[in-house]
Amino acid sequence: MTDGFEKLVQSRRSIRRYKPDIPPPQWIETMVTCAALAPSPSNSQPVRFFRINSMEKKNALRSVMKQRYQDFLAVLESGRAEKTDSPKKIKNLIRTYYRFSTFMLDAPALFAVGTVTDVSSFSKKLFAAGLISGESRGNTDLDVTVGIALNSFILKAQELGLGTCILTGPMTFVPNTEKILGINDARIQCFVTAGFPDEIPACITRKSFAEIYREI
Ligand SMILES: Cc1cc2nc3c(=O)[nH]c(=O)nc-3n(C[C@H](O)[C@H](O)[C@H](O)COP(=O)(O)O)c2cc1C
Repeated sequence: MTDGFEKLVQSRRSIRRYKPDIPPPQWIETMVTCAALAPSPSNSQPVRFFRINSMEKKNALRSVMKQRYQDFLAVLESGRAEKTDSPKKIKNLIRTYYRFSTFMLDAPALFAVGTVTDVSSFSKKLFAAGLISGESRGNTDLDVTVGIALNSFILKAQELGLGTCILTGPMTFVPNTEKILGINDARIQCFVTAGFPDEIPACITRKSFAEIYREI
């Protein structure tokens, strides 16, 4: 028998088209509170949610995204992108990702999600002590921590009847997200939208247990 949690997980899909209604503030608070309960290295709790309400900031994101999108296409059209042997393919990819990025600006609720910049970690401490040469694991910790917090956020949204979509595509079009949003104490890893779904996404397949699991 499929339990409530499994049903919730199975029914969740990324939603990119929303009804105009704004989700109730208490629901957003519950979703963020669930995210705050997620595990984090040494209980450091580095994840932060920034709800973007300002039209000025949204317009700034839109205009930077558009400019960079046009710049990418212009480079491809000029033949200056030496490394690609299939400019048509990469052009289509850019167009798709642009579409899959800009919709967030029309979502009823939009959040930038990131981690505070002053967070310490085990690997950072060993790096500072000169015991290891790199501290790339520090970022792995932060990426995992954002992911796990977001999972609580999106599943709570699903339970409440809201749709969500996590987005990293816009980060490629907007390299200076923090500056545009006026955030100087966190590094933004992604965006996430929320709202009442106005679409039923087409079915997609998932890898089976056997495909993603191995005993070693
Ligand atoms: C880290 C991450 C980044 C993503 N970036 C985008 C994005 O930029 N734009 C978008 O429309 N969807 C984005 N998605 C949503 C995925 O496309 C989606 O999760 C995937 O196709 C599976 O579909 P489902 O979420 O409906 O099950 C992202 C998802 C994750 C986890």
